[in-house]
Order: sequence, then C-alpha cells, then structure tokens
Amino acid sequence: MSATVRLAQADDLSDLQRLDPWPKERIWRQKIAAGEVMVPELDGGVVGLMRYDLLWTTVPFLGLIEIEAAHRGKGYSWLMLSFLKDHLREQGYVALLSSSQTDEPEAQRWHLHMGFSSNGIIENIMDEGVGDVVYRLMLS
Ligand SMILES: CC(C)(COP(=O)(O)OP(=O)(O)OC[C@H]1O[C@@H](n2cnc3c(N)ncnc32)[C@H](O)[C@@H]1OP(=O)(O)O)[C@@H](O)C(=O)NCCC(=O)NCCS
Repeated sequence: MSATVRLAQADDLSDLQRLDPWPKERIWRQKIAAGEVMVPELDGGVVGLMRYDLLWTTVPFLGLIEIEAAHRGKGYSWLMLSFLKDHLREQGYVALLSSSQTDEPEAQRWHLHMGFSSNGIIENIMDEGVGDVVYRLMLS
C-alpha cells in the first residue's frame, strides 16, 4: 500500500512536532494555514513531512523533507516532491530552491538524484567550517 500526500492540517500538529521539534508551535500553525507543510499519510498515520518557506518572500525554498526511517526506500520522497512541484506550479512559481549541509553527503546525493542542480555553497552558515550547498530545481 502506498502513502497519500496531502496538505498538513491543524490536527497534524503533534505529529509534526514529533517528527521535527525545531519550529515553534506558533510558526507551525502559520505554515499549516499558509499551505506550506505537506505530509505523507499511510493507514491513517503521518509517516513524514515536508515544509517549505518563501525566500525573499518570492522564491520557494524546501526547508525540510523527512520520511520516518521505517518507511524509507518506498518512493515516498518522490511522491512528496511531485506533490510539492504541482502545488508550486499551480501558484505560478518557476523554481524550487533547497540546500543541504556540506557534512551531509546522503542528503546531497538525494538532491542530485531528484534532479536538483548545485548552485554553490554558503560557507560557515552552520557551525564553523560547515557550509550549506544550495540547490535549484526548475519547475517547468
Ligand atoms: C532523503 C529521504 C527524504 C529519502 O526518502 P525516501 O522516501 O526513502 O526516498 P525514495 O524511496 O522516495 O527514493 C527516491 C529515489 O531517491 C533515491 N535515494 C533515496 N535516498 C537517497 C540518497 N541518500 N542518495 C541518493 N539517492 C537516494 C532512491 O534510490 C530512489 O531512486 P529511484 O526512484 O530512482 O530508484 C529520507 O531518506 C530521509 O528522510 N532522510 C533523512 C532526512 C533528509 O536527509 N532529508 C533530505 C534533505 S532535507
């Protein structure tokens, strides 16, 4: 059985906080209301999340995509990204930005595999010596 991707709703809050404790509750609520959070649902349960932000108020930026470890390798990140691309195209956006830390080779490989192109590195944006590789995926 495959997961279904949908926009997150207010009653997904506890699942979102379980999977990603970093955003403040107030921000989660704002992002859910803005349609900036998606979840894959399987058998009525949330098994991952994806959230994006609008960089410079105009360009979508993939802040995080995460699939629960037990559900990886089943194509759910493809489903999630495809849902997000359609969602963004419907709103008239032409490109999606993303990034991954220079010390996270798995996340870098995933981005390239999914069709993102590297646009360079922001140096020392995390801990000293750890940068962020920035990626772009055209939506057309
Ligand atoms: C990265 C992640 C989202 C992938 O999710 P997933 O559902 O397991 O991936 P899928 O099953 O959809 O795989 C999609 C494709 O990517 C490939 N892939 C998955 N992880 C990969 C990796 N680390 N490197 C290269 N390719 C990868 C798969 O082989 C598959 O390829 P195919 O369809 O051409 O055969 C998941 O491993 C995860 O949550 N990781 C921790 C968080 C993270 O690193 N997020 C990404 C950066 S924000």
